[in-house]
Amino acid sequence: MAETVRLHAVDKAGRYAELMPQLEHLVAGEPDLVANLANLSAALKAAIAAASWVGFYRRRGDVLVLGPFQGDVACVRIDIGRGVCGTSAAERRTLIVGNVDDFPGHIACDAASRSEIVVPVVSSSGVLLGVLDVDSRELAAFDEVDGTALERVANLAASLPGW
Ligand code: SME
Repeated sequence: MAETVRLHAVDKAGRYAELMPQLEHLVAGEPDLVANLANLSAALKAAIAAASWVGFYRRRGDVLVLGPFQGDVACVRIDIGRGVCGTSAAERRTLIVGNVDDFPGHIACDAASRSEIVVPVVSSSGVLLGVLDVDSRELAAFDEVDGTALERVANLAASLPGW
């Protein structure tokens, strides 16, 4: 039986440091991408107190298509260049948005979402595979600590087969 995520640190950086090896363990030896992204989403949702939605979009041509996630039903297709996810994908950089109302073109899948962080998933050879999106119903829920940690998670995701 799969074990649940166990975190003891009270500070965010410490919790991410504890989480990372558990994420690696979750996906080790499993070749199925949907299973792996589903478990990564579930583990991140459990670990990040402020997160209301955690999930992956996969790139299909010029479009991001909804992949495994935890949270409410979400937008299925997002053009690269649109919204926070599409902009992160187009610019291949992490975007931390403290107030989604201030982001031009933000796509409101969940009207209660107030802040979010999106990290591109890029292969070791530089191919854009998709994005990792984490949303919160709190304002300014995410900072550089989340950015650094979620970039590590995105690298782990990018190393998985099956994109
Ligand atoms: N808010 C995102 C859309 C995706 S979801 O919220 C799950 C955006 O503007 O990219």
